[in-house]
Amino acid sequence: MNHIAIIGCGNMGLIYANSFLKYKITSTEHLLLVEKNEERRKMLSELHIGKVVTVDDAGIAACNIVILAVKPQDFRALAPSLKQAIRKDSVVLSIMAGTEIAFIAAELEHDHIVRAMPNLPVSLSMGMTAFASSPGLSHEQIMLVENLLSTTGRTIYLKDEQQLNAVTALSGSGPAYFFYFMKSLIDAGVQMGLDEHVAAILARQTMLGSFHLINSGEKTLDEYIASVASKGGTTEAALSTFEKKGVHDAVVEALCNAEKRAKELSIK
Ligand SMILES: NC(=O)c1ccc[n+]([C@@H]2O[C@H](COP(=O)([O-])OP(=O)(O)OC[C@H]3O[C@@H](n4cnc5c(N)ncnc54)[C@H](OP(=O)(O)O)[C@@H]3O)[C@@H](O)[C@H]2O)c1
Repeated sequence: MNHIAIIGCGNMGLIYANSFLKYKITSTEHLLLVEKNEERRKMLSELHIGKVVTVDDAGIAACNIVILAVKPQDFRALAPSLKQAIRKDSVVLSIMAGTEIAFIAAELEHDHIVRAMPNLPVSLSMGMTAFASSPGLSHEQIMLVENLLSTTGRTIYLKDEQQLNAVTALSGSGPAYFFYFMKSLIDAGVQMGLDEHVAAILARQTMLGSFHLINSGEKTLDEYIASVASKGGTTEAALSTFEKKGVHDAVVEALCNAEKRAKELSIK
């Protein structure tokens, strides 16, 4: 059974704790919830999903997996105590946004580091998580991390850590783009005279159905577009407006700006 310590049991830490238990990656007896916030500690204790401790707890030394789920700005203060606590052969899995493997490895004086970038739907086990690792990790250790992360949705391993900046821009921030587009669809529906709740149902179900079509993989995206947009029809009127207003290019530019910002915010 995996012994797991989750350092920082806020929103994300708790999602991971519940996901690991749900898929029996660990058990409540082998799960340490390392949390400093008093109010949060009380709430976690009442859930009875693991032992609630602080970072000086001796039990961390027994863990083969240590998950870093504190805010990046809290990591430096935490590192000296954690460095003493973790055992040399454990795998440290960080989900801290923008915090590079080399920085974590240097602060913890530890070789086996994995850095992952999840997104919001992990809370529904429908997340998308990309991850990269420090060079010394064995295939077995990478598979172990893969098994952990896939309890929250799909995962993909990247050889090049720097690609996590593009991942942050695409799947990390991605849910917000879809919410934004959905909001635009609903606003348009309302402007055309639909009740807001009707526009919302139409937009949601359209997004869900379209996703499942794409996922079936029967056609390319261009073929799907062509199958909805007949010559001189309504869809073509909308798509040509998108083209005229430069929506495609704006989306590409927006994501490139998000990637640039991810690089600027990186903690090296
Ligand atoms: N939320 C997302 O969608 C998302 C997506 C991708 C990545 N991430 C990353 O996930 C990490 C966690 O995000 P979150 O939204 O879960 O943050 P959060 O809710 O603030 O959780 C972090 C928890 O760690 C606690 N903490 C801080 N220092 C600690 C220490 N020394 N020992 C033990 N616990 C400590 C915090 O307590 P206090 O509140 O008292 O400080 C807080 O309860 C961040 O690094 C973020 O970049 C989040």
